[in-house]
Amino acid sequence: MPEPLIIKTVADMSRWSKDQFKAGRTIGFVPTMGALHAGHRGLIERARRENDAVAVSIFVNPTQFGPHEDFHKYPRTFDADRKLCAEAGADCIFFPDVKEMYDQDARTWVEVGGLGDTLCGLSRPSHFRGVTTVVAKLFNIVRPDRAYFGQKDAQQLRILEVLTRDLCFGIEIVPCETVREPDGLALSSRNQYLSPDERQQALCLLRALEYCKKRVAAGERDAMKLSGEMAGMIEKEPDAEIDYVALVDAETLDDLHTLSGEVLVALAVKIGNTRLIDNVRISLPKP
Ligand code: PAJ
Repeated sequence: MPEPLIIKTVADMSRWSKDQFKAGRTIGFVPTMGALHAGHRGLIERARRENDAVAVSIFVNPTQFGPHEDFHKYPRTFDADRKLCAEAGADCIFFPDVKEMYDQDARTWVEVGGLGDTLCGLSRPSHFRGVTTVVAKLFNIVRPDRAYFGQKDAQQLRILEVLTRDLCFGIEIVPCETVREPDGLALSSRNQYLSPDERQQALCLLRALEYCKKRVAAGERDAMKLSGEMAGMIEKEPDAEIDYVALVDAETLDDLHTLSGEVLVALAVKIGNTRLIDNVRISLPKP
């Protein structure tokens, strides 16, 4: 299995991309913050199947972490990441340092209006501005044909779809299904912070989402009622603290009162000190 090329500078990454373009090769791109797991692997393998060349970026982006969040503690596991990228078929890994990505004097932000202020944006006020700024920069550097994002981060995915449309990047955004542990817990680089007991309690996220799906299948359409019932289930866990339980329109992320159309059921719950998110989509007829 060929070792992916490790590229550390913006200039070299742009050159690689131009070389692919000149050779008539399409580029699939998977942006990540490293600590790669089977969820990331699914994205890279899909990019491998659908493109001639595959680039993965590994960059723990400081601008998307709040002052009291885990930027310094975020797991950095480059050797294992490189191995996973090789196995999944990546051709290169863009692995810049912070100085390479952000000029000391950088003063430009890219912000998608409104969509970043709800759900995760309420407790992480500048998070999505950091995500959209770094992804816009990465898109300009890598110039992919397609970029692959997980549905696990549904709000991020929606915001990046709108960013790509609004700024005419001409990149196809490919949503990829959430990869889960055998017991249903969504894979996340932050799962490794959980103690064995917290790991068990973390299953309450999917349990609440599955319960919601069942209730909707049985005909319930009242969003307040459903979110209240889900919250009740989650609060039974001793170390669970709800950030939000939301039933929103999957496109606008606006709160729904009565469910119809494409519904996103999304949760953020702190288990001990670890904040976890998960979601499901439900398709209903429009009224
Ligand atoms: P990171 O958390 O490393 O995730 C990189 C990509 O992997 C995202 O598109 C995310 O949705 C996807 N992913 C994570 N867990 C997944 C799972 N269990 N199943 C399927 N896909 C999963 O998201 C980021 O990094 C950053 O915000 C980034 C977009 C790279 C910008 O810095």
